[in-house]
Amino acid sequence: MKDLCEKVLQYRHSCKQFDENNKIPKENLDFILDAGRRSASSFGMEPWKFLVVQDQNLKQKIRPFCWDQPQITTCSDLVIILAKIEELKPKGDYVKKMFSRRPISQERIDAYIELYGNHLKDTMSSDENIYCWSARQCYIALSNMMNAAAAVGVDSCAIEGFEKENVEKVLKLDTSKYQLAVMLPLGYRVKEQPTQVRRDFDDVVEFI
Ligand SMILES: Cc1cc2nc3c(=O)[nH]c(=O)nc-3n(C[C@H](O)[C@H](O)[C@H](O)COP(=O)(O)O)c2cc1C
Repeated sequence: MKDLCEKVLQYRHSCKQFDENNKIPKENLDFILDAGRRSASSFGMEPWKFLVVQDQNLKQKIRPFCWDQPQITTCSDLVIILAKIEELKPKGDYVKKMFSRRPISQERIDAYIELYGNHLKDTMSSDENIYCWSARQCYIALSNMMNAAAAVGVDSCAIEGFEKENVEKVLKLDTSKYQLAVMLPLGYRVKEQPTQVRRDFDDVVEFI
């Protein structure tokens, strides 16, 4: 397990250009998306949706609003991670449904819903704040998908360099329901992987 993790950490890098003729087999693509689906999230809300753009014309339309980055159109599959908004509000059916999946008493489910509402009171006070919280969870799914991709020899590059509102318009999103959190183009590298540049362990970690 540790060896596999080490290999994944070494293999993953931000791929800047993909091989346009090399498509990810469905089995591996599904594996990567499923790693996102199974991610941890605060209160277990799973506040995400993954749009998988496979249509080349749509990728072309999105690219200008992503700093014209070549990853958008050269990738095999462009995963767009959306952050849930409206349904996360405490009084709604979705929140109830998410808590009710657990094998616990109705009393405890009600207590969880109350805790959720109280703890996230400020967070739920505006769609903008909900987006910030929801998108944070989406980044956990992003990370899991990047690592799952590396485990099956698929390259990726997290993309935050985009014009949010313009991409949302291209995708015709109802932004009261979902907003764009982050993107993940997936495919196969055409260039050698660069040497990883990182701060030192002791600079990053402090034992107290
Ligand atoms: C949330 C996030 C957003 C990023 N957005 C972009 C991006 O828009 N374009 C890009 O080329 N790289 C992007 N990156 C890649 C980072 O620049 C990269 O992870 C960092 O420089 C470390 O390099 P490595 O991933 O190859 O190890 C992003 C990374 C993360 C985690």
